[in-house]
Amino acid sequence: MNIIDYGRYDHVRPLRWTGEALDLLDQRVLPFDVTYLACRSSDAVAEAIRNLVVRGAPAIGISAAWGVVLAARAVQAASGPEAAARLEPALQRLNAARPTAVNLAWALARMRASLATAGTDWLQVLEREAAAIEAGDLAANRAMGHLGAALVATGSGVLTHCNTGSLATAGFGTALGVIRAGVAEGRIGRVFATETRPWNQGARLTVWELQQDGIDATLIADSAAAHLMQTGQVQWVIVGADRICANGDTANKIGTCQLAIVAKHHGVKFMVVAPASTVDMDTADGSRIDIEERDPAELLSARGMRTVAEGVRAWNPVFDITPHGLIDAIVTERGVVERPDATRMRVFSES
Ligand code: MRU
Repeated sequence: MNIIDYGRYDHVRPLRWTGEALDLLDQRVLPFDVTYLACRSSDAVAEAIRNLVVRGAPAIGISAAWGVVLAARAVQAASGPEAAARLEPALQRLNAARPTAVNLAWALARMRASLATAGTDWLQVLEREAAAIEAGDLAANRAMGHLGAALVATGSGVLTHCNTGSLATAGFGTALGVIRAGVAEGRIGRVFATETRPWNQGARLTVWELQQDGIDATLIADSAAAHLMQTGQVQWVIVGADRICANGDTANKIGTCQLAIVAKHHGVKFMVVAPASTVDMDTADGSRIDIEERDPAELLSARGMRTVAEGVRAWNPVFDITPHGLIDAIVTERGVVERPDATRMRVFSES
């Protein structure tokens, strides 16, 4: 039981179910516009996931679960299994919205499983399941925040990458949850966040989100990370995950792997924080993960204005794989796996 009131450090919410629609905080226009987009159909939710209105592995999964509820409202069926068959095309479209984060398929699998045993009240069963997925994520984040913070020595500096906070989850965040807990517990002395080019999740989202909660953070260029570590300003790199394989290899935002390599070189510890729903024991290692590539235009312009000469080609993979040998600890709500490998990861096969 946590004795610290983390709520003081957790004000932002990326989504809210109104009973009629899924309202998504539009992350494309933060930090200067704080507007919610109302999604009234599962296809609108799928499009919002694809276009990064909502992003971050857990938030994608939760949104998809509510998307199923929206799809269900347009379907007539006498039982859960009958509804499941009719809803399957909508579930497939939700699942195809983004490929790398396993939380999307995980949440849809939970929605399918709840239908399998549901009777005439299948619509209410689906609503309860989506709400449970959302509530479970928030509880998991608070638990792992506490567990991860306990690894950090008092006075440490930390570096995080991308946005893994309340904006990327039901609330509190994964890696950013550890940072929130570490700040609340007085362990973390200084927080650094990378810009996270090209979509700037760190610059546009992470430092804004921390500012909302009164947590002081310093933004750095992605390319300043090695210098930051070399000058002894951080003792931990703390990141999230989109998929963690059976051997501990971890897919996360592009640039994570190079941070892990540099951290190893400088003796800085590397922590991956994610709910157990991000662990994919069916994928043996990172070479089997589908890495999403997005529009190269993200690299060719800034704020709608072209910054690169016409005719230049760009390649834009948006995730990379950090080999398990570079990871000091994987933290989930179930506990900490230190120096993960295929043997130590087996705890996730035991239910
Ligand atoms: O492309 P994004 O912004 O969805 O990528 C997000 C990340 O890579 C996060 O680190 C990951 O999903 C974990 S979020 C708790």
